Amino acid sequence: MSLAEPFPSVRVRAPGKINVYLEVGRLMPDGYHDLATAFQAVSLYEDVTATHDDDFVIGSITGTVPLIGVPKDDRNLALAAAKLLAAETGYHGGVRLDIAKDVPVSGGMGGGSADAAAALVACDALWGTGLTSGDLHALAARLGADVPFALLGGTAVGTGRGDNLNPALAHGRFDWVLAANPVGVSTPEAYAMLDRHREEHGAEIGHGRDVPGVEADVLHALRQGDARMLAAALSNDLQAATLRLRPDLSEVLELGESSGALAGIVSGSGPTLAFLCESAEAAAELQQTLVTSGTDALLAHGPVPGARIVG
Ligand code: C5P
Repeated sequence: MSLAEPFPSVRVRAPGKINVYLEVGRLMPDGYHDLATAFQAVSLYEDVTATHDDDFVIGSITGTVPLIGVPKDDRNLALAAAKLLAAETGYHGGVRLDIAKDVPVSGGMGGGSADAAAALVACDALWGTGLTSGDLHALAARLGADVPFALLGGTAVGTGRGDNLNPALAHGRFDWVLAANPVGVSTPEAYAMLDRHREEHGAEIGHGRDVPGVEADVLHALRQGDARMLAAALSNDLQAATLRLRPDLSEVLELGESSGALAGIVSGSGPTLAFLCESAEAAAELQQTLVTSGTDALLAHGPVPGARIVG
């Protein structure tokens, strides 16, 4: 194929994420919460292949995770991303998107956001719209709070809705075991539960800081590549809310923590539980223990790059 010919299709890979720190501040008038988070992109990937088409369609959705609840209509974030890019750039054709999923669905790991980020990069390349990374970031933020991080990848601090990103220094590799759960948690419900909890128990637990910020220990641990230090600093304000909605998760959290993990945490709004381990070997052992107990457990490591063209 000569360079002048358009690509027949473009495949883009984008990672899932773990929030190693998530502090939720006040509810803002737009319905979002002010927050401060530290994201780590991990080696569970979504692949989106974009192919020229007259319409906007999802061709197929396949994957290594249960796919129940993934929409094929306009509620699909990858399709929404393609339509937004076309509308903003004046592109008149359509696209077919084929999505291969490795990130647990509705799991709190940003799988849908990764699909949207991958679709933006894939359609931009397929259509030759040539947007800058700043333009893509702005479109990503309109699609969802976690979409800009799926574009960026690596390690980053997010403030505001979580979409105001600053890359963070990180060294080394962190090994995780992810305990997936077939029944998803609705992110808005988890935030609403946290608000209710704070209303009821504000006197004891406070209402959230006016200006949330990522603790220095977290950034230090990421910079040092020190899993033990990071384990001690893992924190997620949504965890208590999610465990209230889903008390069944506590048992798996305890099992992981008593079976070799340095620490466990609810990933985002859950229900996926993320266990940080000392090494790849320790992670493989914990995965085996969880699988033997009947829990669907996946291995992943981070940080890994953001959305990029792979074919
Ligand atoms: O942006 P996204 O669609 O991923 O957010 C899903 C929901 O999570 C929002 O509608 C909101 O209820 C909640 N959310 C929030 N504050 C944030 C991010 C998300 O309240 N910073």
